[in-house]
Order: sequence, then C-alpha cells, then structure tokens
Amino acid sequence: MPLHIDVLTLFPRMLEGFLAESILGKGIERGLLSVKVHDLRAWATDKHRTADDRPFGGGAGMVMKAEPVFAAFEQLQKPGCRRIYLTPDGASFTTAMAEGLSREQHLILLSGHYEGIDQRIRDCLIDQEISIGDYVLTNGTVAAAVVIDALSRFIPGVLGEEKSLTHESFTNKLLDFPQYTRPAEFRGMSVPEVLLSGNHAEIEKWRHAKCLEKTRLVRPDLLK
Ligand code: ADE
Repeated sequence: MPLHIDVLTLFPRMLEGFLAESILGKGIERGLLSVKVHDLRAWATDKHRTADDRPFGGGAGMVMKAEPVFAAFEQLQKPGCRRIYLTPDGASFTTAMAEGLSREQHLILLSGHYEGIDQRIRDCLIDQEISIGDYVLTNGTVAAAVVIDALSRFIPGVLGEEKSLTHESFTNKLLDFPQYTRPAEFRGMSVPEVLLSGNHAEIEKWRHAKCLEKTRLVRPDLLK
C-alpha cells in the first residue's frame, strides 16, 4: 500500500497548487503516494464554525480549540498511523526524518495556527512535533507542504533517477557541487575545463573538492 497522508489545516486551499504541480503532482497522479487535505472547520460544530478561542491565563492571540481537532483525529486516525504537529517549537526537520517518514503507511499532519494549540491536543493526539526551521511562519500549512515534499523524494519512483538522491546535499552530509549546462561559453564566462574533459575520475575529484569548499564556507557545522 502506498503512503497515505491526511493534512489538517484551516487553510486547505494553500495546498491545492502545491499538490498538483511538478514531481510531487506526478507522484500522486501515478499513485505512489496519496494526500488528502481536510479543512478543520468541518469538525467545528457551533454555528460560527469556531476553531480558536482566547487563552486561559490571558495574553495575546488565539489558541486552537481542542474539540474540532479531537473530532478530526478520532475520525481519521487508524492503528499504526503517525501523528505529527508542525510547530516552531518542535524538533528540527532533517533529511533523516524525511526518509523515515517516507517509509510509514499513514501520516496525519496537523498544521497549527494563531499563538498555538490547546496543550491537550499535543498531550493526547500527537506522536511527533516537527519544526522546519528557526523562524515563525503565519501557520504550519507551508511547513506541512515542506515535510510532504521532502519525504516524497524518498518514495521509490517519485524521482526519475535514483542517482539524483545519492549525490545531493545532505544525503552525504556535504553541500552540492556547482552544475553547468550548455552553452560552454556564456557572456564571456566559461565552464570549468575539467567538466569538458571526459575524465570521470578527475571530474569526481573536482566535484568532491568543490563540495568541501562550499560546505566549509557556508555550513562548517556539517564538517564537525
Ligand atoms: N508553524 C509556524 N512556524 C513553523 C515552523 N518554523 N515549523 C513548523 N511549523 C511552524
């Protein structure tokens, strides 16, 4: 069975174009994974479809209510599913996490909004909390998109060439080498000679040196 992902959000339309386009769109079309986006308000039962309320104890902003989220999970979750909350105070998302999630059967991604969500949701319903970086987004829907995109690349068949996975940044803990395509000469700038040489051993050596140089410059933390 291919991986199925349920996304719970207050802004389902944010994901429409994202899921239809490009490599991910093709993967979904070909049945390599399936993604269903749900509007959390569908589970809000009052007449204004309220999904948020003021925080107990005071303070700015609104907090996502427990009732609609519990109702949504109770309808969608099945034994063995992995339930993830996207939040800036979660653990930092990595390529290793993406690879692990790509091997699951069923994921539920909850996107947070406002100043946060009722803690009882996190205590009772969530298996894993993920942040996509040290910055705060207006809501977690874009973060859910990032997680889906990154994990989809580890699902066999989604990327055309398996090779494009093994050579890239982070899989081997180094940043990428520079790439060039035709023309060999463009506005007075030429492609490094070695890439035109046909000498594959030399090309590999050059690329590895460039990876090290770039990593040392931009992400020295990866070399430690
Ligand atoms: N929601 C708001 N900011 C976020 C972040 N950095 N990662 C995941 N979810 C978020």
